[in-house]
Amino acid sequence: MTDSAGRLAILTSGGDSPGMNAAIRVATLFALARGWTVLGVSDGYRGLVDRRLSPLTPEDVSGIIREGGTILGSARCLDFHERSTRDAARACLRELCVDGLLVIGGNGSLAGAAALSDPREAGDLATRVIGVPASIDNDIGMTGLALGVDTAMNTIVEACDKISDTASALHRTFIIEVMGRSCGYLAMTSAIASGADSILFPEAGRSEEEIVAAVVRTIRAVRARPGHRNRVLVIKAEGVGVPTERLKSLVDAQLRGESDERASVETRVTVLGHVVRGGRPSAFDRLLASRLAHVAVRAVLAGEHRRMAAWMLPMEPPAAVAHRSADDPYCWLVDLDAVLAETERMLSGTSPLVQWRARVLAEIEDVLSL
Ligand code: F6P
Repeated sequence: MTDSAGRLAILTSGGDSPGMNAAIRVATLFALARGWTVLGVSDGYRGLVDRRLSPLTPEDVSGIIREGGTILGSARCLDFHERSTRDAARACLRELCVDGLLVIGGNGSLAGAAALSDPREAGDLATRVIGVPASIDNDIGMTGLALGVDTAMNTIVEACDKISDTASALHRTFIIEVMGRSCGYLAMTSAIASGADSILFPEAGRSEEEIVAAVVRTIRAVRARPGHRNRVLVIKAEGVGVPTERLKSLVDAQLRGESDERASVETRVTVLGHVVRGGRPSAFDRLLASRLAHVAVRAVLAGEHRRMAAWMLPMEPPAAVAHRSADDPYCWLVDLDAVLAETERMLSGTSPLVQWRARVLAEIEDVLSL
């Protein structure tokens, strides 16, 4: 089979990320153009279990490429960990004769896709399941980028540029906390792109004492420079163990009493929070979403199953778990279980990719404050 007309269902799950709508749009238009019926699932796996699916038309997806969030709605469906919930979702897919399901989401959502289609419990389920990685955290294995990362990084850099104005005017230190859950990628990349003086990320595995010492060292280094910049920007990933306000207090306590002819030795904290997750997707995220969705639908049409459409793999993949898309040379189709295994390694710090990131950033730490 399989380019004959069938039924494609699309769901978005977990934390929304900019680019999800762009992916829904291309998947819908491409499948419709191939004569398929497209069903949008409301609110992720929850909607699948509750059978909240409705047809998507070109009108429904018109103009959404510009919009953040997801028109389908999303949810964190914790009871999808239960076999009975997954059975209910599979019953829905069977009864609605869904031939292909696109799951657009982060690592929890992709784990849900793997569990839903697990051959040990899926029985005669004929639905082919393909994932599209979408999470601002960039903590999904086997893809160079996930949807939303670029937009989130641009949002952080814009915020840092603005904060930098105040920091410079008042000779202050700012500790800026950014989202990313347990992954330091957003903090690392946005710190470099915004010209920050220090980056704190969980993969460094530092103790509270070491983290405070690193920030104090940076502040002293910046101040000690002749004609030094008159502000210090520290980007801190939310996954770093020390709460940001506590870090500020500890840093202030160490610097108290130290004289600086200009600085009032003041530290301020800004937690960017959900601001980082919203907003219109960048041009790159729109393109990435469109390309991955295109490859994902083609994979469904070609009869692929339990795969994730991926963007330029950071590591050479074993041929058994990934192949380059025949439809887009920058994209890959990766075995879902391999994605989840690499995601686990990334989270536990044993992935060579994560170790490389942490090592390189540790090596350049003293360069940042120059
Ligand atoms: O996974 C995306 C993310 O935004 C993380 O960066 C953050 O830790 C988490 O979701 C916040 O989740 P919620 O919106 O459910 O509070």
